[in-house]
Amino acid sequence: MANIVVIGLFSIVLLCIAAAQGRKTLHLTNEWLTSYPVIHDIDGICKTMVETQGYTCEEHKVITEDGYILSLQRLPVGRSGKKADKPPVLLQHGIFSDAITWLFNPPDESLGFILADNGYDVWLANTRGTKYSSGHTSLNPNDMAYWDWSWDELASYDLPAFVQYVYNQTGQRVHYAGHSLGTLTALAAFSQGQVLNMLRSAALLSPIAHMYQITSLPTKLAADTFIADAVYWLGLRELIPHGDVAAKLMEDICDTLNLDCSNLMTLFTGPNCCINSSRIDDFLDHEPQPTATKNLIHLAQMIRTGNIAKYDYDDQEQNMQHYGQPVPPPYDMTEIPNEFPLFLSYGGQDMLSDVKDVQVLLNDLKDHDGNKLVELLMENYAHLDFVMGVNANQMIYDPMMAFFKDN
Ligand SMILES: *[C@@H]1O[C@H](CO)[C@@H](O)[C@H](O)[C@H]1NC(C)=O
Ligand SMILES: *[C@@H]1O[C@H](CO)[C@@H](O)[C@H](O)[C@H]1NC(C)=O
Repeated sequence: MANIVVIGLFSIVLLCIAAAQGRKTLHLTNEWLTSYPVIHDIDGICKTMVETQGYTCEEHKVITEDGYILSLQRLPVGRSGKKADKPPVLLQHGIFSDAITWLFNPPDESLGFILADNGYDVWLANTRGTKYSSGHTSLNPNDMAYWDWSWDELASYDLPAFVQYVYNQTGQRVHYAGHSLGTLTALAAFSQGQVLNMLRSAALLSPIAHMYQITSLPTKLAADTFIADAVYWLGLRELIPHGDVAAKLMEDICDTLNLDCSNLMTLFTGPNCCINSSRIDDFLDHEPQPTATKNLIHLAQMIRTGNIAKYDYDDQEQNMQHYGQPVPPPYDMTEIPNEFPLFLSYGGQDMLSDVKDVQVLLNDLKDHDGNKLVELLMENYAHLDFVMGVNANQMIYDPMMAFFKDN
């Protein structure tokens, strides 16, 4: 059961379903009201995940314009002890995870360590609401208001804060690499001309922009369920998918939807070819991380409509209040500057960043300068192979570093 839960929880969709199906359970247990633990520096990602592998690591903090206190980790030196002589790279994880995503496999398979060993100055971002970024100047995670955000805010506040901070600290323009939701927030920001002046390039793994043609039927059903009762879900504020309740939820889901539980990972993220399954239990110690239910509803809106737009309050007056217009303003991917270097890598088996939707994005980018757009399709990869695949070092990270070198 543990394996199924942890893998499933990686995906947007599974949690939508889990939440939808588990409504009664959540009411009964109040698990989602768990108080946040105080994190001492000694517990941090540097201490637990980086220094243990023999690497130097620094903890940093940045405060967003809307008051969230976010943590970053820096690996300024490779395993050899040689100081970075290449530009900074900022790594942005996806939904339900944090910077540990980039450190979880052994050093020669994890992008965070690989970049440091190759002379890059590595910076790892942790978005709001995750364990090591749960601070705020006036709110705390037990407040409703703390969770009043979707990926709009990740794009307009968290991302600029991270990029500006690394740019300030290093005095250099930055390479960006994101996975999954960490690509959507970047694309949204780029389409509005944000942060580009501080970046050299961006590598997008499992790029998410359009989400209309995702190939998983349960995913579509989940999105519908979520939207149908958005008011209720918003009342839950955040989703912390840990523990026995999550396991119970999964069982209920399997029964209700008549799914083969041994195959949940395939059903939701696609058949990941290349993950070492014996590491999954270790992974449970660190992940998954909570997210705002508003964020999940925003994603469900995209799956429903096929649009990439700001969060829809589903109420003309509220939309007017927030946006000065009755419908949420779209993010126009064709506005991404044609000369900005982009590396897009996507998987033939990925059910969240599915090939058809990626092709719609590539069509949006059809006027992009040919030598500023690298496209890498991995036929046998699904969603999680890009960060956990045991051969991602050769298949994805080597070509990515070649791209960084050129830009
Ligand atoms: C970056 O530096 C500028 C200029 O010194 C400063 O105004 C800004 O607050 C800094 N931002 C971050 C996120 O460090
Ligand atoms: C899978 O991971 C385990 C634990 O890290 C390791 O002992 C084993 O060698 C790995 N197997 C492969 C095929 O990489």
